[in-house]
Amino acid sequence: MTDKELLRLALDAAKNAYSKYSGFSVGAALLTDDGRIFTGCNIENSSYSLTVCAERTAIFKAVSEGCGTNASCKFRAIAIVGGIDGIFSEPCTPCGACLQVMSEFCGDDFKIVLTSGVYRLKDFLPKRFELK
Ligand code: THU
Repeated sequence: MTDKELLRLALDAAKNAYSKYSGFSVGAALLTDDGRIFTGCNIENSSYSLTVCAERTAIFKAVSEGCGTNASCKFRAIAIVGGIDGIFSEPCTPCGACLQVMSEFCGDDFKIVLTSGVYRLKDFLPKRFELK
């Protein structure tokens, strides 16, 4: 699975975004070490704070299927695309809440694939919060 292919899956997932309040559709595609893919989109709510981002949708889908929490199915990369009214011209960076959720399940070198290039979790979250 290439980075470009993963981005394409994220773009496909963005088509399912339920973003009637912001008009900003986001798609994410999460790749595991064993080659499984979990996609997600943002799901908004009229009670705004209940909105869930695309990245967290994908990660929670994966964890609920037993991935991300054991050595046999680790998270390798996530591709993210987002844009207003279906125009995806700018890179969509993950929000702080999604970075914290990634931090729970992913190492520093977890790949974050955006339309502007490839980054690592440590680029966005160099000093992660952890309960020790
Ligand atoms: N959103 C995501 O899905 N992922 C992010 O990392 C940033 C924001 C969504 C939440 C909301 O539905 C819309 O984008 C506008 O904030």
